[in-house]
Amino acid sequence: MKYYLAPMEGITGYIYRNCYAKFFNNIDKYFTPFIVANKSRSLKTKELRDVLPENNKGMNIVPQILTNNSEDFISTCRRLQELGYKEVNLNLGCPAGTVVSKNRGSGFLAKREELDMFLDEIFKIDDIKISIKTRIGKDSPEEFYELIKIYNKYSLEELIIHPRTQKDFYGNKPNLQIFKDALFLSINPVCYNGDIFTVNDHNKLAKAFPEVKTVMLGRGILANPGLMNEIKNNANLDKKVLKDFHDEILNKYIEFLDEDKNAILRMKELWGYMIYMFSDNEKYAEKIKKSQDFRDYNEAVLSLFMSQEINA
Ligand SMILES: Cc1cc2nc3c(=O)[nH]c(=O)nc-3n(C[C@H](O)[C@H](O)[C@H](O)COP(=O)(O)O)c2cc1C
Repeated sequence: MKYYLAPMEGITGYIYRNCYAKFFNNIDKYFTPFIVANKSRSLKTKELRDVLPENNKGMNIVPQILTNNSEDFISTCRRLQELGYKEVNLNLGCPAGTVVSKNRGSGFLAKREELDMFLDEIFKIDDIKISIKTRIGKDSPEEFYELIKIYNKYSLEELIIHPRTQKDFYGNKPNLQIFKDALFLSINPVCYNGDIFTVNDHNKLAKAFPEVKTVMLGRGILANPGLMNEIKNNANLDKKVLKDFHDEILNKYIEFLDEDKNAILRMKELWGYMIYMFSDNEKYAEKIKKSQDFRDYNEAVLSLFMSQEINA
């Protein structure tokens, strides 16, 4: 089985990816949070920093592009090729209102004719591999049966499926019936994505779909950075390793972000996922959330690590 780290805007940028690779080093492909394509062929400073080769040494990185405009997609591909990339990913999954209202991300799924024309244009370039990360529809899961006919017209590097609709957001459960049909219907290699939070979730999926050879994990890894090691090596996460991993991310955020308070904000977002790993975590979650400066933050985190254990 191959394992990918899902793109997560605001979290799995190059700092998180580097720290994760340094401590865990068990991911086959890292997908960057989306880059919004534009005509100018130049990337925004933040987007460029995230894909610069010197910021991504030793990792297999696939930049992700968000757009519904084929020219913009192609210009962005060209810029990424100049940076050395040979593969890009198209975002057809983002459910956020601001993205969907512009018919991008999972909003593009409701415009099938336009989507087909868009793909027809971008697949004319044959010197870069293109994969797609998709939801199964905008409003209804049945839309997938039309979408797969479109995807099957093109030679994708792979089709990464998060089997929810845009309407589902992160509610409901991944629709495994549609996923099963997708495996049967897709002529392109399929990767599964969605709700793998535990070894048990992983093993159930692997048992239900033995033909699946690639899985993308997102929130499961944020919530338990040791998850992949549990899956692959049956090894539990050591509290000291988690503390060192945490400190590395914090220190890099302090080093690279303009303001200290932004580093704390980023860490708080991460704790929104990681805190549940600890026993009796409520009080500490509150303390971390309320911390205003480094002293408060460090004190809250230290007291959590000193007095609580990682749940087995
Ligand atoms: C905070 C956050 C940011 C995300 N940003 C992106 C993104 O930039 N591009 C993308 O394709 N998906 C994005 N996603 C979706 C994830 O990549 C993934 O498809 C989703 O979380 C389901 O997988 P999981 O259950 O393993 O987390 C984001 C999800 C979250 C929670």
